[in-house]
Amino acid sequence: MNGVTYFVLLVAALSALEVVQSKPMGNVIDLDKYFEEVDSNSQERVVGGYDVPEDEYVPYQVSMQFRTRSGQLRHFCGGSLIAPNRVLTAAHCVNGQNASRISVVSGIRDLNDSTGYRSQVQSYEMNANYQELVTSDIAILKIDPPFELDEKRVSTIDVSGSDLVGADQEVLLTGWGSVFHFGTGPFAKYPTVLQKLSYKTLSNSKCKETMTQLTDTEICALERFGKGACNGDSGGPLVMKSGESYKQVGVVSYGTAFCASNSPDVYTRVSMFDSWIKERMA
Ligand SMILES: *[C@@H]1O[C@H](CO)[C@@H](O)[C@H](O)[C@H]1NC(C)=O
Ligand SMILES: *[C@@H]1O[C@H](CO)[C@@H](O)[C@H](O)[C@H]1NC(C)=O
Repeated sequence: MNGVTYFVLLVAALSALEVVQSKPMGNVIDLDKYFEEVDSNSQERVVGGYDVPEDEYVPYQVSMQFRTRSGQLRHFCGGSLIAPNRVLTAAHCVNGQNASRISVVSGIRDLNDSTGYRSQVQSYEMNANYQELVTSDIAILKIDPPFELDEKRVSTIDVSGSDLVGADQEVLLTGWGSVFHFGTGPFAKYPTVLQKLSYKTLSNSKCKETMTQLTDTEICALERFGKGACNGDSGGPLVMKSGESYKQVGVVSYGTAFCASNSPDVYTRVSMFDSWIKERMA
């Protein structure tokens, strides 16, 4: 797995942590350490995408925020609203984390916008087959209070169905991840406005040529050099047009450490988890 990493935060912030909420698997990201080390004003961030236009919202997109020891609320992963009180994200975003320190914000395009709506994570469930950088990187959060859906700023995204999405399909990625190729570190650029990027899916066999550990529970997307997912995008939604609306086909999972460097981005394939998700909606 050389060079392969999650799009959450610094790889250096990965460490074994003892706080247990739901049984952690593999490495746990130490968010306290991460946010204490980064420049206190930097926030995380899609490479090569563009700002979601002013006055436009991606109503199913949420920001997952961690409450630091000093009480700041910091974006660290993306997620999608699949019911008024349920958020879909990546397992690695919550693995080993204390749910009471995580909240989600909906109804914003700018992380600085204080008119968004916040809801507290009550609990989360990671897929039991989750294996770090290998398979089933998906989790569901229960939040309270439920969000009020207004269809403009806040709405749910359809995740139902088990149809297999093939290669060369137009997909849309959104996230507050880094806009610069070199991810975190001195070169990272951290805007606060939600970024979006249209690109295309790749067949699993083609993807496997580069991402050798790929499994059927995943789907890949690739654009040319300089476009793709990056740090802070983890857990966020990859969607596809379905009639007049959109359907979520992927959850941002992992890619190479140098974001958008011509290797595919790997997403959890939502259609493989259709019944798992349905069972957790009630
Ligand atoms: C989780 O965080 C809350 C609030 O900060 C704290 O009171 C609680 O002790 C933490 N739980 C664990 C298991 O660390
Ligand atoms: C967001 O807030 C930060 C910290 O207050 C500030 O540095 C930054 O310029 C703001 N960004 C925008 C787009 O307003």
